[in-house]
Amino acid sequence: MSRCLITGGRIVTAADDYRADILISGGRVSMIADAIPPEDGMQVHDASGLMVLPGGVDVHTHLETFIGPARTADTVDSATRAAAFGGTTTVIDFTRQPPGKSPVAGYGEWRGLAAKSCVDIGVHIILTDVKADMYEGMKELMDKEGVTSFKVFMIRTGPETIDDGQLQQIMETTAEHGALTCVHAENGPILARNIADNLAAENTHPKFHSLSRPNTVEGEATARAIRLSEMAEAPLYVVHVTAAEAVGAITEARDRGQTVYGETCPQYLFLTKDAYETPGFEAAKYVMSPPLRSEEDQEALWRALATGHLAVVSTDHCPFNFSAKTKGLEHSKELGLDSFTKIPNGAPGIETRIAMVYDGGVRQGRIGLNRFVELMATAPAKLFGLFPAKGTVAVGSDGDLALFDPKESWTVSAAGHHSDIDYSLFEGHRVTGRVKKVFLRGEMIVDGETWLGRPGMGEYLARGPSGMVV
Ligand code: URP
Ligand code: ZN
Ligand code: ZN
Repeated sequence: MSRCLITGGRIVTAADDYRADILISGGRVSMIADAIPPEDGMQVHDASGLMVLPGGVDVHTHLETFIGPARTADTVDSATRAAAFGGTTTVIDFTRQPPGKSPVAGYGEWRGLAAKSCVDIGVHIILTDVKADMYEGMKELMDKEGVTSFKVFMIRTGPETIDDGQLQQIMETTAEHGALTCVHAENGPILARNIADNLAAENTHPKFHSLSRPNTVEGEATARAIRLSEMAEAPLYVVHVTAAEAVGAITEARDRGQTVYGETCPQYLFLTKDAYETPGFEAAKYVMSPPLRSEEDQEALWRALATGHLAVVSTDHCPFNFSAKTKGLEHSKELGLDSFTKIPNGAPGIETRIAMVYDGGVRQGRIGLNRFVELMATAPAKLFGLFPAKGTVAVGSDGDLALFDPKESWTVSAAGHHSDIDYSLFEGHRVTGRVKKVFLRGEMIVDGETWLGRPGMGEYLARGPSGMVV
Protein backbone atom coordinates (compact mmCIF):
# COMPACT_ATOMS: atom_id res chain seq x y z
CA MET A 1 0.00 0.00 0.00
CA SER A 2 1.42 3.44 -0.97
CA ARG A 3 2.18 5.69 1.97
CA CYS A 4 2.81 9.40 1.96
CA LEU A 5 3.98 11.42 4.97
CA ILE A 6 3.59 15.19 5.17
CA THR A 7 5.60 16.70 7.97
CA GLY A 8 5.67 19.95 9.89
CA GLY A 9 2.77 21.72 8.18
CA ARG A 10 0.11 23.96 9.71
CA ILE A 11 -3.13 22.07 9.26
CA VAL A 12 -6.08 24.39 8.74
CA THR A 13 -9.64 23.08 8.53
CA ALA A 14 -13.00 24.76 8.96
CA ALA A 15 -12.62 24.21 12.71
CA ASP A 16 -8.92 23.76 13.57
CA ASP A 17 -5.52 25.32 13.14
CA TYR A 18 -2.51 23.35 14.47
CA ARG A 19 0.86 21.87 13.55
CA ALA A 20 1.12 18.11 12.99
CA ASP A 21 2.32 15.39 10.63
CA ILE A 22 -0.13 13.59 8.36
CA LEU A 23 0.20 10.02 7.12
CA ILE A 24 -1.80 8.97 4.08
CA SER A 25 -2.08 5.23 3.45
CA GLY A 26 -3.96 3.69 0.53
CA GLY A 27 -5.32 7.11 -0.46
CA ARG A 28 -6.78 8.05 2.93
CA VAL A 29 -5.51 9.94 5.93
CA SER A 30 -4.58 7.20 8.39
CA MET A 31 -2.85 9.17 11.13
CA ILE A 32 -2.40 12.74 12.31
CA ALA A 33 0.09 13.19 15.13
CA ASP A 34 2.72 15.47 16.60
CA ALA A 35 5.62 13.63 14.99
CA ILE A 36 5.21 10.52 12.85
CA PRO A 37 8.53 8.71 12.28
CA PRO A 38 9.30 8.13 8.58
CA GLU A 39 9.62 4.51 7.54
CA ASP A 40 11.03 2.77 4.48
CA GLY A 41 8.77 3.07 1.48
CA MET A 42 7.07 6.25 2.64
CA GLN A 43 7.25 9.31 0.39
CA VAL A 44 8.08 12.17 2.73
CA HIS A 45 7.19 15.81 2.00
CA ASP A 46 8.33 18.66 4.22
CA ALA A 47 5.50 21.19 4.68
CA SER A 48 7.35 23.50 7.08
CA GLY A 49 6.23 27.08 6.57
CA LEU A 50 3.17 25.96 4.61
CA MET A 51 -0.50 25.63 5.43
CA VAL A 52 -2.00 22.21 4.81
CA LEU A 53 -5.52 22.79 3.52
CA PRO A 54 -8.12 20.25 2.44
CA GLY A 55 -8.14 20.00 -1.35
CA GLY A 56 -10.56 22.57 -2.73
CA VAL A 57 -14.09 21.59 -3.75
CA ASP A 58 -15.49 23.57 -6.69
CA VAL A 59 -19.16 22.71 -7.16
CA HIS A 60 -19.93 24.86 -10.20
CA THR A 61 -18.10 24.17 -13.46
CA HIS A 62 -18.96 23.70 -17.12
CA LEU A 63 -15.84 21.88 -18.25
CA GLU A 64 -16.47 20.63 -21.76
CA THR A 65 -19.79 21.82 -23.00
CA PHE A 66 -21.60 23.97 -25.53
CA ILE A 67 -23.98 26.90 -25.52
CA GLY A 68 -25.73 27.17 -28.88
CA PRO A 69 -22.95 27.20 -31.52
CA ALA A 70 -20.24 27.92 -28.92
CA ARG A 71 -17.92 25.26 -27.49
CA THR A 72 -15.95 25.77 -24.28
CA ALA A 73 -12.26 26.12 -25.05
CA ASP A 74 -11.15 23.85 -22.19
CA THR A 75 -11.69 20.12 -22.17
CA VAL A 76 -12.30 18.08 -19.04
CA ASP A 77 -8.61 17.20 -18.85
CA SER A 78 -7.23 20.72 -19.42
CA ALA A 79 -9.71 22.31 -17.02
CA THR A 80 -9.14 19.78 -14.24
CA ARG A 81 -5.35 20.07 -14.59
CA ALA A 82 -5.78 23.82 -14.10
CA ALA A 83 -8.08 23.16 -11.12
CA ALA A 84 -5.37 21.03 -9.54
CA PHE A 85 -2.72 23.75 -9.97
CA GLY A 86 -5.08 26.04 -8.09
CA GLY A 87 -5.49 23.58 -5.20
CA THR A 88 -8.86 22.13 -6.20
CA THR A 89 -9.05 18.34 -6.08
CA THR A 90 -12.81 17.86 -6.42
CA VAL A 91 -15.19 19.37 -8.92
CA ILE A 92 -18.89 18.96 -9.45
CA ASP A 93 -19.58 19.73 -13.07
CA PHE A 94 -22.85 20.54 -14.84
CA THR A 95 -24.27 18.67 -17.78
CA ARG A 96 -27.58 19.00 -19.60
CA GLN A 97 -30.52 16.75 -20.12
CA PRO A 98 -30.41 16.56 -23.95
CA PRO A 99 -33.57 17.96 -25.56
CA GLY A 100 -36.15 15.22 -26.04
CA LYS A 101 -34.12 12.68 -24.03
CA SER A 102 -34.05 11.50 -20.45
CA PRO A 103 -31.60 13.11 -18.00
CA VAL A 104 -30.04 9.63 -17.83
CA ALA A 105 -28.87 10.07 -21.44
CA GLY A 106 -27.12 13.35 -20.53
CA TYR A 107 -25.48 11.67 -17.57
CA GLY A 108 -24.24 8.80 -19.74
CA GLU A 109 -22.66 11.16 -22.29
CA TRP A 110 -21.06 13.17 -19.51
CA ARG A 111 -19.53 10.05 -17.90
CA GLY A 112 -17.68 9.50 -21.18
CA LEU A 113 -16.15 12.99 -20.99
CA ALA A 114 -15.52 12.84 -17.25
CA ALA A 115 -13.38 9.73 -17.69
CA LYS A 116 -10.57 12.15 -18.67
CA SER A 117 -10.67 14.06 -15.39
CA CYS A 118 -7.43 14.72 -13.51
CA VAL A 119 -9.27 15.30 -10.21
CA ASP A 120 -12.24 13.59 -8.55
CA ILE A 121 -15.47 14.58 -10.20
CA GLY A 122 -19.22 14.44 -9.72
CA VAL A 123 -22.10 15.93 -11.68
CA HIS A 124 -25.31 17.91 -11.36
CA ILE A 125 -27.83 17.56 -14.17
CA ILE A 126 -29.46 20.60 -15.77
CA LEU A 127 -33.12 19.77 -16.41
CA THR A 128 -34.49 20.99 -19.73
CA ASP A 129 -37.50 18.89 -20.71
CA VAL A 130 -40.26 17.78 -18.37
CA LYS A 131 -41.88 15.63 -21.04
CA ALA A 132 -38.91 13.35 -21.77
CA ASP A 133 -39.14 10.91 -18.86
CA MET A 134 -37.65 13.61 -16.69
CA TYR A 135 -38.99 12.57 -13.29
CA GLU A 136 -38.27 8.85 -13.90
CA GLY A 137 -34.76 9.76 -15.05
CA MET A 138 -34.13 11.93 -12.01
CA LYS A 139 -35.19 9.09 -9.70
CA GLU A 140 -32.91 6.63 -11.44
CA LEU A 141 -29.96 9.04 -11.18
CA MET A 142 -30.62 9.84 -7.52
CA ASP A 143 -31.17 6.23 -6.47
CA LYS A 144 -28.57 4.43 -8.58
CA GLU A 145 -25.86 6.84 -9.72
CA GLY A 146 -25.27 9.19 -6.80
CA VAL A 147 -26.46 12.26 -8.70
CA THR A 148 -28.07 14.17 -5.86
CA SER A 149 -28.51 17.63 -7.29
CA PHE A 150 -30.29 19.11 -10.31
CA LYS A 151 -30.34 22.59 -11.76
CA VAL A 152 -33.05 24.62 -13.39
CA PHE A 153 -32.37 27.71 -15.51
CA MET A 154 -35.17 30.11 -14.63
CA ILE A 155 -34.00 32.23 -17.60
CA ARG A 156 -35.17 29.84 -20.28
CA THR A 157 -37.90 30.92 -22.63
CA GLY A 158 -38.94 28.73 -25.59
CA PRO A 159 -38.75 24.94 -25.74
CA GLU A 160 -36.55 24.51 -22.65
CA THR A 161 -38.84 26.56 -20.38
CA ILE A 162 -39.54 25.08 -16.98
CA ASP A 163 -42.40 27.01 -15.45
CA ASP A 164 -42.95 27.74 -11.77
CA GLY A 165 -45.27 24.77 -11.24
CA GLN A 166 -42.78 22.42 -12.84
CA LEU A 167 -39.94 23.92 -10.83
CA GLN A 168 -41.91 23.35 -7.66
CA GLN A 169 -42.54 19.72 -8.62
CA ILE A 170 -38.83 19.26 -9.30
CA MET A 171 -38.10 20.66 -5.85
CA GLU A 172 -40.54 18.21 -4.27
CA THR A 173 -39.07 15.27 -6.17
CA THR A 174 -35.49 16.10 -5.21
CA ALA A 175 -36.39 16.66 -1.57
CA GLU A 176 -38.19 13.30 -1.36
CA HIS A 177 -34.94 11.63 -2.48
CA GLY A 178 -32.53 13.60 -0.27
CA ALA A 179 -31.36 15.67 -3.21
CA LEU A 180 -31.03 19.40 -3.82
CA THR A 181 -32.49 21.73 -6.44
CA CYS A 182 -30.15 24.43 -7.72
CA VAL A 183 -31.44 27.44 -9.61
CA HIS A 184 -29.96 29.96 -11.99
CA ALA A 185 -32.21 32.79 -10.86
CA GLU A 186 -32.98 35.46 -13.44
CA ASN A 187 -36.46 36.30 -14.75
CA GLY A 188 -36.45 34.94 -18.33
CA PRO A 189 -39.41 36.81 -19.88
CA ILE A 190 -38.27 40.17 -18.47
CA LEU A 191 -34.76 39.53 -19.72
CA ALA A 192 -36.08 38.63 -23.15
CA ARG A 193 -37.98 41.91 -23.23
CA ASN A 194 -34.97 43.99 -22.20
CA ILE A 195 -32.81 42.27 -24.80
CA ALA A 196 -35.40 42.84 -27.53
CA ASP A 197 -35.59 46.55 -26.60
CA ASN A 198 -31.80 46.89 -26.85
CA LEU A 199 -31.69 45.12 -30.19
CA ALA A 200 -34.48 47.34 -31.52
CA ALA A 201 -32.39 50.37 -30.53
CA GLU A 202 -29.38 48.84 -32.30
CA ASN A 203 -27.47 48.56 -29.02
CA THR A 204 -25.00 45.81 -29.87
CA HIS A 205 -21.93 46.53 -27.67
CA PRO A 206 -21.14 43.88 -25.00
CA LYS A 207 -22.16 46.32 -22.25
CA PHE A 208 -25.80 45.86 -23.27
CA HIS A 209 -25.55 42.31 -21.98
CA SER A 210 -25.17 43.81 -18.52
CA LEU A 211 -27.70 46.60 -19.08
CA SER A 212 -30.33 44.02 -20.07
CA ARG A 213 -29.87 42.22 -16.76
CA PRO A 214 -30.39 44.67 -13.86
CA ASN A 215 -30.20 43.56 -10.23
CA THR A 216 -33.99 43.35 -9.97
CA VAL A 217 -34.14 40.63 -12.67
CA GLU A 218 -32.01 38.44 -10.40
CA GLY A 219 -33.60 39.63 -7.16
CA GLU A 220 -37.13 38.82 -8.33
CA ALA A 221 -36.27 35.33 -9.56
CA THR A 222 -34.31 34.55 -6.40
CA ALA A 223 -37.19 35.60 -4.16
CA ARG A 224 -39.66 33.60 -6.29
CA ALA A 225 -37.49 30.45 -6.19
CA ILE A 226 -37.26 30.80 -2.43
CA ARG A 227 -41.05 31.01 -2.06
CA LEU A 228 -41.53 28.02 -4.38
CA SER A 229 -39.10 25.97 -2.32
CA GLU A 230 -40.87 27.07 0.86
CA MET A 231 -44.17 25.78 -0.55
CA ALA A 232 -42.44 22.58 -1.72
CA GLU A 233 -40.84 22.17 1.73
CA ALA A 234 -37.59 21.55 -0.08
CA PRO A 235 -34.06 22.88 0.35
CA LEU A 236 -32.80 25.28 -2.29
CA TYR A 237 -29.34 26.23 -3.60
CA VAL A 238 -29.03 29.48 -5.55
CA VAL A 239 -26.02 29.43 -7.88
CA HIS A 240 -23.85 32.47 -8.66
CA VAL A 241 -25.55 35.07 -6.46
CA THR A 242 -24.41 38.57 -7.48
CA ALA A 243 -27.03 41.20 -6.57
CA ALA A 244 -27.60 42.69 -3.13
CA GLU A 245 -31.34 42.11 -3.72
CA ALA A 246 -30.73 38.37 -4.09
CA VAL A 247 -28.53 38.32 -0.99
CA GLY A 248 -31.32 40.09 0.84
CA ALA A 249 -33.92 37.51 -0.21
CA ILE A 250 -31.67 34.62 0.88
CA THR A 251 -30.85 36.31 4.19
CA GLU A 252 -34.51 36.97 4.94
CA ALA A 253 -35.46 33.37 4.13
CA ARG A 254 -32.71 31.95 6.28
CA ASP A 255 -33.74 34.23 9.12
CA ARG A 256 -37.27 32.78 8.75
CA GLY A 257 -35.71 29.34 9.19
CA GLN A 258 -35.85 28.18 5.58
CA THR A 259 -33.16 25.88 4.24
CA VAL A 260 -31.74 28.07 1.49
CA TYR A 261 -28.12 28.25 0.42
CA GLY A 262 -26.36 30.64 -1.90
CA GLU A 263 -23.03 30.62 -3.63
CA THR A 264 -21.09 33.40 -5.25
CA CYS A 265 -17.95 33.40 -7.42
CA PRO A 266 -14.65 35.33 -7.32
CA GLN A 267 -15.51 37.39 -10.41
CA TYR A 268 -18.43 38.95 -8.51
CA LEU A 269 -16.22 39.63 -5.49
CA PHE A 270 -13.33 41.26 -7.32
CA LEU A 271 -14.66 42.85 -10.53
CA THR A 272 -17.37 45.43 -11.11
CA LYS A 273 -19.59 46.45 -13.98
CA ASP A 274 -17.00 49.11 -14.88
CA ALA A 275 -15.40 46.27 -16.86
CA TYR A 276 -18.19 46.62 -19.45
CA GLU A 277 -16.99 50.13 -20.19
CA THR A 278 -13.72 48.70 -21.55
CA PRO A 279 -13.52 50.09 -25.09
CA GLY A 280 -14.29 48.01 -28.17
CA PHE A 281 -14.95 44.30 -27.99
CA GLU A 282 -12.63 43.73 -24.99
CA ALA A 283 -15.68 44.02 -22.71
CA ALA A 284 -16.87 40.67 -24.11
CA LYS A 285 -14.39 38.96 -21.76
CA TYR A 286 -16.78 39.82 -18.94
CA VAL A 287 -19.98 38.60 -20.56
CA MET A 288 -21.40 36.16 -18.07
CA SER A 289 -24.77 35.70 -16.44
CA PRO A 290 -25.65 37.25 -14.12
CA PRO A 291 -23.33 40.12 -15.06
CA LEU A 292 -20.78 41.91 -12.89
CA ARG A 293 -22.38 44.36 -10.45
CA SER A 294 -21.47 47.41 -8.34
CA GLU A 295 -19.12 47.87 -5.37
CA GLU A 296 -22.18 47.99 -3.09
CA ASP A 297 -23.22 44.55 -4.34
CA GLN A 298 -19.69 43.28 -3.72
CA GLU A 299 -19.84 44.50 -0.13
CA ALA A 300 -23.19 42.71 0.35
CA LEU A 301 -21.64 39.48 -0.98
CA TRP A 302 -18.61 39.69 1.30
CA ARG A 303 -20.81 40.44 4.32
CA ALA A 304 -23.01 37.45 3.53
CA LEU A 305 -19.96 35.19 3.17
CA ALA A 306 -18.73 36.36 6.56
CA THR A 307 -22.06 35.96 8.32
CA GLY A 308 -22.95 32.61 6.74
CA HIS A 309 -25.87 33.78 4.63
CA LEU A 310 -23.88 32.77 1.55
CA ALA A 311 -22.42 29.30 1.95
CA VAL A 312 -20.00 28.64 -0.91
CA VAL A 313 -17.60 30.29 -3.34
CA SER A 314 -17.39 28.33 -6.57
CA THR A 315 -15.99 29.38 -9.96
CA ASP A 316 -18.70 28.86 -12.63
CA HIS A 317 -15.72 28.06 -14.88
CA CYS A 318 -17.31 28.20 -18.34
CA PRO A 319 -14.47 29.36 -20.53
CA PHE A 320 -14.43 30.71 -24.06
CA ASN A 321 -11.32 32.21 -25.58
CA PHE A 322 -11.32 35.90 -26.27
CA SER A 323 -9.79 35.53 -29.72
CA ALA A 324 -10.95 33.24 -32.51
CA LYS A 325 -7.30 32.90 -33.52
CA THR A 326 -6.48 30.85 -30.43
CA LYS A 327 -8.57 27.77 -31.20
CA GLY A 328 -11.19 28.76 -33.76
CA LEU A 329 -14.33 30.86 -33.79
CA GLU A 330 -16.61 28.31 -32.17
CA HIS A 331 -14.49 28.46 -28.97
CA SER A 332 -14.38 32.22 -28.80
CA LYS A 333 -16.24 35.30 -27.64
CA GLU A 334 -15.87 36.63 -31.19
CA LEU A 335 -19.02 34.71 -32.11
CA GLY A 336 -20.70 37.84 -30.77
CA LEU A 337 -18.66 40.49 -32.55
CA ASP A 338 -21.78 41.94 -34.17
CA SER A 339 -24.19 41.55 -31.22
CA PHE A 340 -23.97 41.09 -27.46
CA THR A 341 -26.70 38.43 -27.69
CA LYS A 342 -24.35 36.09 -29.56
CA ILE A 343 -21.38 36.35 -27.18
CA PRO A 344 -21.09 33.00 -25.40
CA ASN A 345 -21.84 33.52 -21.72
CA GLY A 346 -19.25 32.47 -19.21
CA ALA A 347 -15.68 33.02 -18.09
CA PRO A 348 -12.62 31.12 -16.88
CA GLY A 349 -11.48 30.98 -13.25
CA ILE A 350 -11.00 27.40 -12.08
CA GLU A 351 -7.36 27.92 -11.12
CA THR A 352 -7.48 31.18 -9.19
CA ARG A 353 -10.39 30.69 -6.75
CA ILE A 354 -8.39 29.71 -3.66
CA ALA A 355 -5.59 32.26 -4.02
CA MET A 356 -7.97 35.12 -4.87
CA VAL A 357 -10.31 34.45 -1.94
CA TYR A 358 -7.42 33.96 0.47
CA ASP A 359 -5.89 37.26 -0.58
CA GLY A 360 -9.06 39.32 -0.84
CA GLY A 361 -10.86 37.57 2.01
CA VAL A 362 -8.45 36.46 4.70
CA ARG A 363 -5.55 38.85 4.13
CA GLN A 364 -7.84 41.83 3.79
CA GLY A 365 -9.69 40.93 6.97
CA ARG A 366 -13.10 40.18 5.46
CA ILE A 367 -13.27 36.53 6.55
CA GLY A 368 -11.30 34.39 8.98
CA LEU A 369 -8.98 31.56 7.98
CA ASN A 370 -11.31 28.77 9.13
CA ARG A 371 -14.23 30.38 7.33
CA PHE A 372 -12.09 30.55 4.18
CA VAL A 373 -11.50 26.77 4.35
CA GLU A 374 -15.19 26.24 5.00
CA LEU A 375 -16.11 28.22 1.88
CA MET A 376 -13.46 26.61 -0.34
CA ALA A 377 -13.95 23.00 0.71
CA THR A 378 -15.98 21.98 3.76
CA ALA A 379 -19.35 23.59 3.09
CA PRO A 380 -19.53 22.56 -0.60
CA ALA A 381 -18.51 19.01 0.35
CA LYS A 382 -21.20 18.85 3.03
CA LEU A 383 -23.90 20.43 0.90
CA PHE A 384 -23.31 18.14 -2.06
CA GLY A 385 -22.97 14.81 -0.28
CA LEU A 386 -19.19 14.38 -0.22
CA PHE A 387 -18.26 15.04 3.40
CA PRO A 388 -16.21 13.75 5.26
CA ALA A 389 -14.34 11.98 2.43
CA LYS A 390 -13.87 15.41 0.90
CA GLY A 391 -13.69 18.89 2.41
CA THR A 392 -11.57 18.34 5.51
CA VAL A 393 -8.31 16.95 6.83
CA ALA A 394 -9.18 14.17 9.27
CA VAL A 395 -8.40 10.52 9.87
CA GLY A 396 -10.47 8.57 7.34
CA SER A 397 -10.81 11.43 4.87
CA ASP A 398 -9.36 11.18 1.39
CA GLY A 399 -5.74 12.29 1.18
CA ASP A 400 -6.63 15.36 -0.89
CA LEU A 401 -4.46 18.22 0.27
CA ALA A 402 -3.28 21.61 -0.95
CA LEU A 403 -0.02 22.86 0.54
CA PHE A 404 -0.32 26.61 0.56
CA ASP A 405 2.34 29.27 1.08
CA PRO A 406 0.55 32.23 2.70
CA LYS A 407 3.52 34.53 2.11
CA GLU A 408 4.35 34.12 -1.57
CA SER A 409 3.28 37.04 -3.73
CA TRP A 410 2.62 36.56 -7.44
CA THR A 411 0.76 38.09 -10.34
CA VAL A 412 -2.25 36.40 -11.94
CA SER A 413 -1.83 36.07 -15.68
CA ALA A 414 -3.16 33.95 -18.53
CA ALA A 415 0.46 33.37 -19.55
CA GLY A 416 1.04 31.52 -16.28
CA HIS A 417 -2.15 29.52 -15.87
CA HIS A 418 -2.68 25.91 -16.89
CA SER A 419 -6.02 25.84 -18.64
CA ASP A 420 -6.33 26.25 -22.41
CA ILE A 421 -7.86 29.72 -22.21
CA ASP A 422 -6.28 32.80 -23.76
CA TYR A 423 -7.26 35.30 -21.07
CA SER A 424 -7.70 35.69 -17.36
CA LEU A 425 -10.42 37.77 -15.74
CA PHE A 426 -7.84 38.84 -13.16
CA GLU A 427 -4.91 39.63 -15.46
CA GLY A 428 -2.27 41.61 -13.59
CA HIS A 429 -3.94 41.18 -10.19
CA ARG A 430 -1.24 40.91 -7.49
CA VAL A 431 -2.02 38.33 -4.79
CA THR A 432 -0.24 36.98 -1.75
CA GLY A 433 -0.73 33.27 -1.04
CA ARG A 434 0.02 30.47 -3.48
CA VAL A 435 -0.66 26.76 -3.82
CA LYS A 436 2.69 24.93 -3.91
CA LYS A 437 1.92 21.18 -3.82
CA VAL A 438 -1.28 19.24 -4.34
CA PHE A 439 -2.14 15.67 -3.41
CA LEU A 440 -5.03 13.62 -4.75
CA ARG A 441 -5.76 10.59 -2.57
CA GLY A 442 -2.15 10.66 -1.35
CA GLU A 443 -0.55 11.01 -4.78
CA MET A 444 1.32 14.24 -5.48
CA ILE A 445 -0.13 15.73 -8.66
CA VAL A 446 1.30 19.26 -8.51
CA ASP A 447 4.79 20.17 -7.32
CA GLY A 448 5.37 23.87 -7.89
CA GLU A 449 5.24 24.31 -11.65
CA THR A 450 5.56 20.58 -12.32
CA TRP A 451 2.52 18.56 -13.36
CA LEU A 452 2.61 15.01 -12.05
CA GLY A 453 -1.03 14.07 -12.53
CA ARG A 454 -2.65 12.43 -15.54
CA PRO A 455 -6.00 12.50 -17.30
CA GLY A 456 -8.20 9.70 -16.05
CA MET A 457 -6.81 9.55 -12.52
CA GLY A 458 -9.83 11.42 -11.17
CA GLU A 459 -12.58 9.13 -9.87
CA TYR A 460 -16.30 9.52 -10.43
CA LEU A 461 -18.00 10.63 -7.22
CA ALA A 462 -21.33 8.96 -6.53
CA ARG A 463 -22.64 11.36 -3.91
CA GLY A 464 -24.70 10.96 -0.77
CA PRO A 465 -27.69 13.12 0.17
CA SER A 466 -27.35 16.80 -0.70
CA GLY A 467 -28.78 19.90 0.94
CA MET A 468 -28.11 18.85 4.49
CA VAL A 469 -27.80 21.75 6.91
CA VAL A 470 -24.24 23.09 7.06
O1 URP B 1 -22.55 33.04 -17.86
C1 URP B 1 -22.49 31.99 -17.29
N1 URP B 1 -22.61 31.91 -15.98
N2 URP B 1 -22.31 30.86 -18.01
C2 URP B 1 -22.37 29.56 -17.56
C3 URP B 1 -23.72 29.02 -17.54
C4 URP B 1 -24.46 29.46 -16.32
O2 URP B 1 -25.40 30.21 -16.44
O3 URP B 1 -24.10 29.08 -15.21
ZN1 ZN C 1 -26.06 30.02 -14.43
ZN1 ZN D 1 -22.77 27.99 -14.48
